[in-house]
Amino acid sequence: MHDEEPGGSTQSQPTPGAVIPLSRPSWVGRERDYVLAAMASEIHQGDGPFTRRCHALLEERLGVARALLTTSCTTALEMAAILARRVDPGRFAGEVICPSYTFPSTAGAFALHGYEPVFADVRADTLNLDESKVEALITPRTRAIVAVHYAGVPCEMDALARIARAHDLVLVEDAAQAIFSRYHGRPAGALGDMAAFSFHATKNLSCGEGGAITFRDEGWVARAEIIREKGTNRDQFQRGLVDKYTWVDHGGSYLPSELLAACLLAQLEDAEAIQARRRACYEQYLARLAPLADAGLLRLPVVPEGVESNHHLFFVRVDSADTRDRLTHALEAEGITALFHYAALHRTPMGRRFGERSLPVAEEAARTVLRLPLYAGLALEDVDRVGDAIERFYGTSRAWSGACAT
Ligand SMILES: Cc1ncc(COP(=O)(O)O)c(C=O)c1O
Repeated sequence: MHDEEPGGSTQSQPTPGAVIPLSRPSWVGRERDYVLAAMASEIHQGDGPFTRRCHALLEERLGVARALLTTSCTTALEMAAILARRVDPGRFAGEVICPSYTFPSTAGAFALHGYEPVFADVRADTLNLDESKVEALITPRTRAIVAVHYAGVPCEMDALARIARAHDLVLVEDAAQAIFSRYHGRPAGALGDMAAFSFHATKNLSCGEGGAITFRDEGWVARAEIIREKGTNRDQFQRGLVDKYTWVDHGGSYLPSELLAACLLAQLEDAEAIQARRRACYEQYLARLAPLADAGLLRLPVVPEGVESNHHLFFVRVDSADTRDRLTHALEAEGITALFHYAALHRTPMGRRFGERSLPVAEEAARTVLRLPLYAGLALEDVDRVGDAIERFYGTSRAWSGACAT
């Protein structure tokens, strides 16, 4: 599901005849200097100067009370699960409502810490958690809702926040894909009680493997700092608040090395350039594939009014799993890597352990979504190459689609 591709830069040279990968890290240039500076310093463990600069930048840009780097989005979600838990480890922590159409970590991080995932269906337009389906799933055992901003398009957070408030539930954003996306002017990450981000190599901003947890309000922060530091109050000690540090709570080792923070800082500082390149490719796909969508041959992603995507993914939805297989192979034959995305988790071997249910939109998305190449270094000519190949598959031509569009 992650797509591991080597190399990468933000240069956007077309690749005539060469394979176009699905994704590729986009280095902006300063990563090397910052990593070398971190290596040359005596501070290689976490929470040094590069980490602190990442925290400050995230807090300022996301408008959150606190941001803490983690080793991945998965570990950020694990921290959220531990924070939201009201009982000791080993005991049932309650139910957590999450979409079925998502990455395993959304549910898995909570399942690992004593929760039972309750899978909900997703909206037919955005493939985000369907807010109209959530209330019916709430029981006296429900403890949290996890909203996944699929493809970098935020969920209907006002409705979800209303439901969470009415039932005293913790609202967690799985913002793995949504760095710097916005919902009615507010950044993803500041919309729920806490949010988890990913800086995995396939994401808009990357340090290879990495993540962050953010908190809208101060209330959760003191305990989060302890959980992140192996259950110790080392953070308070480093700030001179206690004269020695000790084991005070449950926790894990969730902070990344300074070397990774140094790489991430360079990416955060140049985020605008990276996001702009992705947006240009995304818009080119939209313009290029609109005639096929108008002809009813495929469906394009939907970004609702008032929502700003960070253009993390571009995907099309075709009419069946068979069409998707054939289109994938046709693109592969032309040197273009396209890939399916999530399984519907309630149909996976692990997901079935939490009960059988029918979630038709998630199941359909699992069969029919096909992701197309998108990364900051993708040349617009290569987007056209993908568009040409899809038109050939459907037996249409530029002339035909031009005629159709007028
Ligand atoms: C929605 C979602 N949540 C969580 C993750 C896990 O992220 P990480 O690899 O940083 O743990 C991913 C990874 O792609 C994801 O798409």
